[in-house]
Amino acid sequence: MNLHTHESGPREQADQGAVVFIHGFPFNGTMWAPQLAAMPPGWRGLAPDLRGFGDTPLGDASGQMSTGKKVGGRIARADEPVLTMARLADDVAELIEAECDGPAVVCGLSMGGYVAFALLRRRPELIRGLVLADTRPGSDSDEKRENRMRMAQTARSAGMRPIADAMVPDLLAESTRDNAPDTVDTVQAMILDTPIPTLVAALAGMASRHDSTSALPDIAVPALVVVGEHDAITPVDDARAMTDAIPDADLHVIPDAGHLSSMENPEAFNAALREYLGGL
Ligand code: MLT
Repeated sequence: MNLHTHESGPREQADQGAVVFIHGFPFNGTMWAPQLAAMPPGWRGLAPDLRGFGDTPLGDASGQMSTGKKVGGRIARADEPVLTMARLADDVAELIEAECDGPAVVCGLSMGGYVAFALLRRRPELIRGLVLADTRPGSDSDEKRENRMRMAQTARSAGMRPIADAMVPDLLAESTRDNAPDTVDTVQAMILDTPIPTLVAALAGMASRHDSTSALPDIAVPALVVVGEHDAITPVDDARAMTDAIPDADLHVIPDAGHLSSMENPEAFNAALREYLGGL
């Protein structure tokens, strides 16, 4: 799948390397605009719209994209596709092979982190460094899967508006909601822009993802773990435990930010990223 990709600049300028930014759910590559605009000299940023999101089509349900019959429990119906993290990771692998001169730094936020873990499992040779933002290595609890099933039902019956209304308070810190109306609007617009079949397919894919916790001690590249100090979905304590389990990892807690730390406090996020890239 040829992913529609937002880029910071031409390939020729990337003498230091490339960072591939993988967006969260249910967003798209435009969420990384503040990072693409501030790439350190010599680094190129690539932010794809994952399959089904933004300007990349969902494609058909053939090949490695399972149908709900096989994966995703009761979330996707038998005739609905499931976007497995493996499928999304294979698309990112294709992008790295086509667009980068060698392995890339992979930066995934939340679902993007789940995709990064899948890429690490499937194509570790494509990863030169790992930035894990507001994400977790574990798989879903039963309660989380139930919530995903309810979200899929709501989207099918009532559309994306109630999904956006329910998600925004959990995604953004109170200070962002009070003081950054543009960020709130951007997040809402990305959610509303997500097609319902993509939403359902990704919910089922996330619900069926592997538990990557036992793989953390084997991560052989330097890692940066980033988390918003008010992240209500993947809290600071989880990020700290993940950092402790990775042999070469540093933790940066981003002030005045919730789950979307790269959008809520891009200055602090970019400073942490810059320092990390400088140390590679
Ligand atoms: C995300 O931001 O990607 C979501 O919170 C991931 C999830 O629902 O597990």
